[in-house]
Amino acid sequence: MTVATNIVWHEASVDRAARAQQRGHRSAILWFTGLSGSGKSSLANALNAELFGRGLSTYVLDGDNVRHGLCKDLGFSDADREENIRRIGEVAKLFLDAGVITLTAFVSPFRADRDRARALVAAGDFIEIHCAADLAVCEGRDPKGLYAKARAGQIKDFTGISSPYEQPEAPELRVDSGSQTLQESVAQVISYLEERSIVAG
Ligand code: ADX
Repeated sequence: MTVATNIVWHEASVDRAARAQQRGHRSAILWFTGLSGSGKSSLANALNAELFGRGLSTYVLDGDNVRHGLCKDLGFSDADREENIRRIGEVAKLFLDAGVITLTAFVSPFRADRDRARALVAAGDFIEIHCAADLAVCEGRDPKGLYAKARAGQIKDFTGISSPYEQPEAPELRVDSGSQTLQESVAQVISYLEERSIVAG
């Protein structure tokens, strides 16, 4: 691969602040992380519906969907997950600049990869939300039958079974998605966003 040279950053005349002013709200990245089956996509989608219903600009980037397009060349080795998360971090940064409240739902099992995504944006713009349902709960749910396959040795490098999940040490929010209802989790995240004045109370 040849890396491009002679590339100069072009300053946009409509910037993030102008977009925030026009839309009446600021943007942020809500980065959901957790095991497969921990409820990331369900929570991101329910929140998206709630925020959209309030007239806010929002978008969900979801692992299973992004892996059908932008990241369809990637598998689940450590290196491929790192590249997956690198791309999503960059895409989320663009959405942030576009003034959109961006919800990402990726297992993102490695702390260093999540921290790199965090470091791409200013402090306060990256809100890490740990969907903390534990392995036994996720495996009990097994919504896609993937844990059964992983236990049977039919999927290698499966997070929680044959590939590690590194828990966030200091996430902005920890959601007990193993025991509380989806509505309770939505309410928990919304109150955080209100406290932080990302959405109006
Ligand atoms: S990540 O590790 O790179 O962040 P990502 O969130 O994109 O993963 O994709 C995870 C989804 O792919 C899971 O929800 C699950 O449905 C599916 N999947 C398929 N194989 C694996 C695997 N080996 N490990 C984890 N998830 C897998």
